[in-house]
Amino acid sequence: MHAVTLPSGERVPSFGLGTWQMGDDPKRRAEEIATLRLGLDLGATLIDTAEMYGDGRSEQLIAEAIQGRRDQAFLVTKVYPHHASERDCIAACERSLRRLETDRIDLYLLHWRGQVPLAQTLAAFLALQRAGKIRHYGVSNLDLADMQELWSLSGGQGVATNQLLYNLARRGIEWDLLPWLRERRIPVMAYSPIEQGRLLRQAKLAGFAERHAMTPAQVALAWLLAHKDVIVIPKTGNRERLKDNIAALEHPLTPTQMAELEELFPAPTRALPLQML
Ligand SMILES: NC(=O)c1ccc[n+]([C@@H]2O[C@H](COP(=O)([O-])OP(=O)(O)OC[C@H]3O[C@@H](n4cnc5c(N)ncnc54)[C@H](OP(=O)(O)O)[C@@H]3O)[C@@H](O)[C@H]2O)c1
Repeated sequence: MHAVTLPSGERVPSFGLGTWQMGDDPKRRAEEIATLRLGLDLGATLIDTAEMYGDGRSEQLIAEAIQGRRDQAFLVTKVYPHHASERDCIAACERSLRRLETDRIDLYLLHWRGQVPLAQTLAAFLALQRAGKIRHYGVSNLDLADMQELWSLSGGQGVATNQLLYNLARRGIEWDLLPWLRERRIPVMAYSPIEQGRLLRQAKLAGFAERHAMTPAQVALAWLLAHKDVIVIPKTGNRERLKDNIAALEHPLTPTQMAELEELFPAPTRALPLQML
């Protein structure tokens, strides 16, 4: 499996598994669990969730999927901004640990910025790390100004990632945030890499995919995977789609193909406010 290096030097798979909305529909549950297990078999061992997803149902489903295989998985979960004070964050982490049926979270993220000062959240992350409850910490949906503020705080330079909306149709972060993160060797975790399925219906992507004998999802993912410091976390609760998506790793895009996609999905030409979904 292709890997991305975290600032600590640890390598994690560049292709991970998103789980938003998993566990919400009892009829889909068995297939969702089978999909996560297949992901582990195929080396997609990074699994992304959040306390928010289905009020903890996604974390519970993951616990079932990785039963007996905890050591193979790299678990990422997130704390709500309104649980991000020092005391509440520690309690939220304990709840996530219980739902995930594990003794440690591999990467714990602030889901987005809320009212709680970042210094408090960092204090909680550092305390949780010292206690061995989380191995790494990071953030999500923080824009450049937020990152600069975070960087100036105690523990701020320890962030392992910023999880951001990033795909062919959402390239705004390339203007200033991505270069800033790159300079500091902080990888980006690209969420909604196929724009929740909507990107796949764009005729220009479908046309490109057909011309190059790939599926639209493979093109969208291969484009992100061409960036050596980007981790993709597409979500699917279906084994056939997982196989389709993961095959993006077998279709690295050539410079000519990258140039063609650049024409179809141009890079930003000015600073844009950070987008989130
Ligand atoms: N930090 C944040 O604020 C944030 C925000 C959004 C998402 N996330 C994380 O990022 C993950 C991925 O983002 P996302 O779930 O928003 O969107 P996504 O991964 O871009 O798209 C998921 C959707 O696409 C469908 N899909 C997947 N593969 C497909 C394929 N090959 N062909 C056709 N349809 C396909 C899935 O349906 P099926 O399941 O039916 O296949 C699902 O409806 C989330 O699950 C979550 O873990 C984080």
